Amino acid sequence: MTGQRAEKPVLRVLGGEAVWPPPVWLMRQAGRYLPEYRKLREKAGNFIALCTTPPLATEVTLQPVRRFGMDAAILFSDILILPWALGQKLRFAEGEGPRLERIDGLAGLEALDPAALRQGTEPVMETVSRVRAELPPETTLIGFAGSPFTVACYMIDGRGGDFPLTREVAYADPALLAAVIETVTTATIDYLSWQIEAGADCVMLFDSWAGLLPPDLFRAHVIHPTARIVEQLRVRHPGVKVIGFPRLGGLMTLPYIADTGVDAVGMDTSVDPVALARLAPRRVAFQGNLDPLLLRAGGISLGQAVERIARGLAGHPHIFNLGHGIVPDTPPEHVAAVIERLRSLEPGELEE
Ligand code: CP3
Repeated sequence: MTGQRAEKPVLRVLGGEAVWPPPVWLMRQAGRYLPEYRKLREKAGNFIALCTTPPLATEVTLQPVRRFGMDAAILFSDILILPWALGQKLRFAEGEGPRLERIDGLAGLEALDPAALRQGTEPVMETVSRVRAELPPETTLIGFAGSPFTVACYMIDGRGGDFPLTREVAYADPALLAAVIETVTTATIDYLSWQIEAGADCVMLFDSWAGLLPPDLFRAHVIHPTARIVEQLRVRHPGVKVIGFPRLGGLMTLPYIADTGVDAVGMDTSVDPVALARLAPRRVAFQGNLDPLLLRAGGISLGQAVERIARGLAGHPHIFNLGHGIVPDTPPEHVAAVIERLRSLEPGELEE
């Protein structure tokens, strides 16, 4: 098993090797832009049912791998399945995004049941094992969770946006934010550990809202809990690879790389990959960072951007990806064109 794992291009890159052309997968590669996804989504009825019905979630996970030959599959689920499994009420309102029953004090947090996590996430683990059994041996299976701060944002504000309540709580009731983060961190260590045991080859932590925090709070609520998760996962699963994605982290991306111990860092659309590779405080793999809106727009500049990003990181361990998730009205042909362009790149210099 270990020998086989080492052959997977994504895992080679996560081990620090520069692979050319870079292996590729895309955030939100399964989703509404694919007609075959929309069909199964309708069949499931609602989004949570889709995430927690293993045959359907398995099929949705495999769709983009079959259609495009991606180098990695990412488990089909959602970062909010974790608070849902702890007992927080969750619904996905059509066209509006997620709605959670807000945590507005310690009593609300204490009403959650950490002991319910195992059973509540059993369908997710079954999906991981089913996907594992069906994937080609060279394809990496990525498990994931939200990072504690980003999950806390949804738990406290109850909905997406710029999370005014969570940011106020950070100053007005720091013990509450710390307690929510503590609960999520502990749960996430188990949750990711179970995914690895069920067959995930590596895991990714999505910290979509990390960039909302000033540096001192970024250290406390992003770097510190992430470091704890990475350390604990390595204790339980020596050698396991972790990708971190501190979206819009700006310069805090540097201490994030230095201090969390992640094996790879996801770069959002704002990052200049060449500059980051020059500044990175230790050898780390990079993942990203094509603009999803350029992917939707297509055309000549799409191909040029694919080549620029790949060549900019040539010689570095790099997994090609987007800077954020695929948007729903993206033509699937544009995704196919990106993969083809990437795989037809000749080694050599970039012609300007
Ligand atoms: O293909 C994949 O990337 C794997 C599956 C995946 C989903 N969500 C499926 C999904 C992953 C890794 C996520 C992560 C996630 N979920 C994040 C972090 C990454 C990011 O996008 O910033 C966040 C913040 C969430 C929370 C969430 N889930 C929101 C805000 C929304 C609504 C927005 C939207 O696009 O509808 C969701 C719903 C969601 N998660 C969908 C999918 C495919 C759309 C649901 C549908 O089919 O209607």
